[in-house]
Amino acid sequence: MRVAMLTGGGDCPGLNAVMRAVVRKGESVYGDELFGFRDGWRGPLEGNIVPLSVANFRGTLPRGGTILGSSRTNPFKVDGGPERVKANLEKFGIDALVAIGGEDTLGVATKLAADGVNVVGVPKTIDNDLSATELTFGFDTAVQVCVDAIDRLHTTAESHDRVMVVEVMGRHAGHIATYAAIAGGASMLLIPERPFDIDEVCEKITRRHDNGRFASIVVVAEGAMPKEGTFATTTSELDAFGHVQLGGIGERLARAIEERTGFETRAIVLGHTQRGGTPTAFDRVLATRFGIAAIDAVHDNASGTMVALRCGSIVRVPLAEATAELKLVDPEVYDAASVFFG
Ligand code: F6P
Repeated sequence: MRVAMLTGGGDCPGLNAVMRAVVRKGESVYGDELFGFRDGWRGPLEGNIVPLSVANFRGTLPRGGTILGSSRTNPFKVDGGPERVKANLEKFGIDALVAIGGEDTLGVATKLAADGVNVVGVPKTIDNDLSATELTFGFDTAVQVCVDAIDRLHTTAESHDRVMVVEVMGRHAGHIATYAAIAGGASMLLIPERPFDIDEVCEKITRRHDNGRFASIVVVAEGAMPKEGTFATTTSELDAFGHVQLGGIGERLARAIEERTGFETRAIVLGHTQRGGTPTAFDRVLATRFGIAAIDAVHDNASGTMVALRCGSIVRVPLAEATAELKLVDPEVYDAASVFFG
């Protein structure tokens, strides 16, 4: 078979490991010819394709990013986009497509599969918010980056009696923030699932400092929202999938905490460092298992499915199910973090 892959949306550590596994098993077990479309859905839209082989992936297992490039191009937002994608798949004789991406990339795959395109999905999001899979690769790496940073912030916060507000990724769900807060020993956690009241946040910090602790680590997910009316927020432009560019909550929160409590406060935005660099061993293993399961799904004619992790095993789920709803932070995990608030 002629099998092509693409990586769409925000990159994350482990993408190369997925593709390496697809290529390795595709080439050596199934005798496939492998290809890569460049820059997410822009590749099939514009016919930008490259041949791939085992040789292209030498040395890429520990390498973050994606050797194919990525974009947030949405063919359904382009005039005649889906038709162009299908025409290019036919032009290059592509029998099956492996789409590696999050909610948006897989949303496009879902629509194309319904339209007869032979496509298998691999879940990817640093935010870990796809409901059909218990975990996505890249998440473990992102949490580790946050925890390494928080470990360092503790000592400088203590030296200066400061509050450190650490802003991490997490657009609609606070998985990274929650895991980083627990593993990093944070004394406050703000996530999109739990709108916060700035006065309550400040009260808890003040109580903590009154009790003889003079430094606090506040972890905030970039998508955390104040309860209506408690704090001003801003929005900016939308991307092709209708998302606003987030960021800035940490800085605003730090200012508000300093003003209300009088404690010196600094904001640290970890931003794209969470998405860069080498994947953890856990993410390399998960990504490899997903890649192998994806090429097996292609050969089992399981078009319209996505590979997923459930109870430790890799299973196939309908693509439509994969993008149907967001996975939010488990209240039990949030409650564990909240024991350490204040
Ligand atoms: O969707 C994954 C993600 O990393 C979000 O956590 C974040 O809001 C967004 O992507 C950042 O996107 P960009 O790389 O386009 O700035």
